[in-house]
Amino acid sequence: MARESSKNGAPPGPPGLPFFGNVLDAWRDPLGLFVSTRRTYGDLVRFKFGPYYYYLVSDPDDVHHVLVDNHKAYTKSRNYAGLKLVLGQGLLTSEGDFWRSQRKLAQPAFHRQRMSGFVDSMAADTLAMLERWDALREPTVDAHAEMMRLTLRIVGRTLFSTDVDGEASEVGAALTHALAWTNHYVESLVALPPWVPTPDNLRFKRSKKTLDDLVFRIIGARQASGEDAGDLLGMLMAVRDEETREGMSARQLRDEVMTLVVAGHETTANLLSWAFYLMSEHPDVARRLKEEVDLVLGDRVPVLADLPRLAYTKRVIEESLRLYPPAWVFERQSTQEDVLSGFRIPKGSILGISPWCIHRSERLWDEPERFDPDRFLPEAVAARPKFAYLPFGGGPRFCIGNGFAMMEAQIIVAMIAQRWSLELVAGHPVVPDPLVTLRPRHGMQMTLRRSPRDAAPAPSLTPALRVA
Ligand code: HEM
Repeated sequence: MARESSKNGAPPGPPGLPFFGNVLDAWRDPLGLFVSTRRTYGDLVRFKFGPYYYYLVSDPDDVHHVLVDNHKAYTKSRNYAGLKLVLGQGLLTSEGDFWRSQRKLAQPAFHRQRMSGFVDSMAADTLAMLERWDALREPTVDAHAEMMRLTLRIVGRTLFSTDVDGEASEVGAALTHALAWTNHYVESLVALPPWVPTPDNLRFKRSKKTLDDLVFRIIGARQASGEDAGDLLGMLMAVRDEETREGMSARQLRDEVMTLVVAGHETTANLLSWAFYLMSEHPDVARRLKEEVDLVLGDRVPVLADLPRLAYTKRVIEESLRLYPPAWVFERQSTQEDVLSGFRIPKGSILGISPWCIHRSERLWDEPERFDPDRFLPEAVAARPKFAYLPFGGGPRFCIGNGFAMMEAQIIVAMIAQRWSLELVAGHPVVPDPLVTLRPRHGMQMTLRRSPRDAAPAPSLTPALRVA
């Protein structure tokens, strides 16, 4: 969809060093750089990163234009090259007709009706964690590590009917390193290719092997059993090419499973860690949430019908996603010239769309640094432009797991609140780390405090929800 340019020259941006441009500032503190330059230069900022120009797009109309109206003029950017080394050609990284047919294939696994079957499984896994917490001698946990473990287990069981519990810490460490390596590889102007045996590249290879082993074990177990568990893996394995009648290759299957394991647990674990941090800093919010949980659930384990009634819990999650969006930036590359905010954007440009930056824009949000779940009351949502808030992206590449993640987060937050309130350990440094996703750099050390009602009998459970 063509737009007319009305402004001459290039969009404004910060001055930089010769050759390097703004790359050192971006390495040091991309979160700070994005927010401060948007404030200074406006909703379209041009950076120079080494030989490339990079455009930070923060105007909701421009974002809508790029992600929706004119999405055909954009691909995922070359910055995804590093991620492709881990994920291959899965849903997140593939393009064009191939992406379209894979998306069509996976979509039914995420339909509302199908996902309703996941509620019991999510609740059972959360309960197993809570029972483990009950037995802890030390009432302190790294909430981020705990959430990584729980969300990995949930993805494994719901989408692939596989237990991956024992491997969580090893997989977590491998994933941390592999993703940090891909970040460095993409951002570095002089990175050696991955096959050069530097110590860091060799470690990357080992991390990738740990992740591959997990994924091939999931696939192998299913192939050996031959059963159709009716889950996403079953659907992916059953698919046949209309002409050749061939199934998906082992490689393609690996890439899709890897993508869903990675995209489906790390993001949600980050969201939960930030939500617990924010509630610890805002006890009034935690109290209100607990009141809602007591009223709606009492001591019961949640079922699907409870979720719409846990409305404040949902708003707390939405507001946490605003202040700490796990996908803090995503990028596109233009395949044609385009016009944004009246400026001409040359073909081949890289565009950054940063939920972190947009969610902190004073133009769109009143006192953006303030944590206030009631920003997500329906009337407040209706009064904002759609793309003032986009933790799950937008347009045809919108997150396929959005409903899954929201449902999972609601269940986990509510069930934890039934028994515990989590308090940040005094002095624990909380630093958002903008890797591929936005993690707490030093984890999230939190003290478990029993919720008052928990002196009462343990939650009443249907036997089916007990986890061995
Ligand atoms: C809080 C949790 C999550 C957040 C913040 C999040 C965020 C995002 C964002 C922003 C995108 C779009 C990226 C782009 O346009 O370049 C995306 C895509 C994607 N997400 Fe999520 N996600 C979350 C949870 C999940 C879950 C639970 C799954 C799977 C179970 C998942 C699977 C995917 C996949 C496969 C894509 C690629 C979709 C496509 O291009 O067709 N995500 N996610």
